[in-house]
Amino acid sequence: MSTEESAPYGGATDAKAAVKKVRTHHLREWKQQGRPFTMLTSYDLMTARIFDEAGIDTLLVGDSGGNTVLGYGTTLPVTLDEMIMMARGVVRGASRALVIGDLPFGTYQASPEQAYLSAVRLMKEAQVAAVKLEGGVEMAPQIQKLTQGGIPVCAHIGFTPQSEHTLGGYRVQGRGDSAAERVLRDAHAVQDAGAFAVVLEMVPGDVAAQVTKELEIPTIGIGGGNQTDGQVLVWQDAFGLSTGRTPRFVKQYANVHDVLLEGARAYASEVADRSFPGPEHTF
Ligand code: KIV
Repeated sequence: MSTEESAPYGGATDAKAAVKKVRTHHLREWKQQGRPFTMLTSYDLMTARIFDEAGIDTLLVGDSGGNTVLGYGTTLPVTLDEMIMMARGVVRGASRALVIGDLPFGTYQASPEQAYLSAVRLMKEAQVAAVKLEGGVEMAPQIQKLTQGGIPVCAHIGFTPQSEHTLGGYRVQGRGDSAAERVLRDAHAVQDAGAFAVVLEMVPGDVAAQVTKELEIPTIGIGGGNQTDGQVLVWQDAFGLSTGRTPRFVKQYANVHDVLLEGARAYASEVADRSFPGPEHTF
């Protein structure tokens, strides 16, 4: 057995010691063992290093970077070049975590061939270990093409932000019997097509739990309750850097906003009164 595969993976706290490099198969093994795993978004080298050091299992270079990094307001304008640029930094910062890159809107929906060419760029130019794309039944041909071509795919169903105009805004998906059946159908379709995991976004807790029970591949919840195999949060939401109202499913674990604000104000004030730079900072 290689060091990479030195099981057992004894739980979230000793995850770092147990697995040297997280691979897609680890997520499946953790599901089988009932060991919840973590995912955070990351869009740059520095946060990737910190989250990797913290033992976060997977890093998602999400197209949510369109909102959190580029300020677009939605994910729709994000380009493949922008995703590649952000992902390059994350890949360099992560030594243990599995890095997954989002395929942005318009780079995979047209055909399986388009999806393959876009995913190849993300894999070659940023060296992510896997890609994520949004959609269920209708994306099965794309998922099949990618996985058959050697590209691991994480699917994303429930609320899919790239379709916010079709879905009528940010709203819970899967409420009511037929909507819940649709989520289940999508989940099975992406599994059957070869996805190694599936993100369930803004899906009622009982539906997410049912999907998790029925699927062999791991589910990763965001606004899907605590019964999914993994959890994901956008880091700026989780650590208090987002402005405005955060969704109900977000828990804030730190307040980076206030730390930075305080630091920036202290710097500005010391420059203004010439106490910085002091003699110890001067050649
Ligand atoms: O882009 C993103 O950050 C995502 C997560 C919300 C899952 O897709």
